[in-house]
Amino acid sequence: MENQNERKKILLTGDRPTGKLHLGHYVGSLRNRVAMQNSGKYIPYIFISDLQALTDNARDPEKIRRNLIEVALDYLAVGIDPNKSIIFVQSQIPELSELTMYYMNLVTLSRLQRNPTIKTEIKERGFEKSVPVGFLTYPISQAADITAFDAELVPGGEDQEPILEQDREIVRTFNAIYGETLVEPYLITPDKDICKRLPGTDGKNKMSKSLENCIYLSDEPEVIQKKVMGMFTDPNHLRIEDPGNVEDNAVFKYLDAFCTDEHFQKYLPEYKNLDELKAHYRRGGLGDVKIKRFLNNVLQETLAPIRERRHYYEQHIDYVYDMLEEGSKIARQKAAEVLKRVRRAIGVEYFEDMELRHSVYTNIDDDLQENMGGRSR
Ligand code: TRP
Repeated sequence: MENQNERKKILLTGDRPTGKLHLGHYVGSLRNRVAMQNSGKYIPYIFISDLQALTDNARDPEKIRRNLIEVALDYLAVGIDPNKSIIFVQSQIPELSELTMYYMNLVTLSRLQRNPTIKTEIKERGFEKSVPVGFLTYPISQAADITAFDAELVPGGEDQEPILEQDREIVRTFNAIYGETLVEPYLITPDKDICKRLPGTDGKNKMSKSLENCIYLSDEPEVIQKKVMGMFTDPNHLRIEDPGNVEDNAVFKYLDAFCTDEHFQKYLPEYKNLDELKAHYRRGGLGDVKIKRFLNNVLQETLAPIRERRHYYEQHIDYVYDMLEEGSKIARQKAAEVLKRVRRAIGVEYFEDMELRHSVYTNIDDDLQENMGGRSR
């Protein structure tokens, strides 16, 4: 078992607890993580990044506190399994903060300011005039999150790529200065392009809580239906006979992300697959209500088991908190091992370092130390 584990690649990813998780999270990362977890080929670490959430919510810690359980419930609901994955909470691993301190010295201010993801997020949050230092530097703490577990693979959306790029730079710089110590992480995005950046129900922007264009994993069936029926399609597709555009059409984008040929057999047997449906829409003669009803059926089928599992765990909240506490303990052991390695590489493990002790001053009190049960060799 131990040997097998050694050959398994370590996978790590996390989510900020600022709200419930939605379809964008699902196709962008959750679905992938569950598949990788169930393949048995990886050791998955999945965590709730409450420290990172505080970097732009420092004045509203209650929001983070409340949403911790929501994210944990969503994890269990989609099938992340504490028997197969280590599920934990970032703030319970103080080793991460110490690693961040060491990495901070390896990154320049201008490099952080040039990070495209950070630049966009600063604008989105209105931080242009004054940005919290913790927010600007979260890519550094994210490098700590990842390297603390020797993670090689990080499933996430494509907005994470510039952060991962910066994290790899930190790893390379660290290894160049202090010797091979840390593992370089790589982002894993979904195969289908549409899943990397699912638009919201408004069809324009990325699905995002602040834009109120989300379908949540925990939405009830009526809510899902209402959101789907209100989705944006092709604004020029006014009458059913009009030829329609499937490229700029959120309903078709969702179908790309979610529907399978089996869904057609079950809910829309006049068509074999999505290509046939798209061809008909392009030609004209296919109404929006029909494609929305189909999408609604597909999403209802996808989300029903997730919602059911969530309801189950909502009735077992103590179990969920205990599971997080247990996972955090296990994660902390691993992070402590890696931190030890990092401290040795930098050379700050002074008190175990006999070479340092004896390098300048000759030791006249070896006997004395031995008598006192000291650590001399
Ligand atoms: N940045 C991620 C988000 O926006 C959360 C996160 C924090 C993360 N640390 C990470 C993701 C490490 C992957 C790996 O939700």
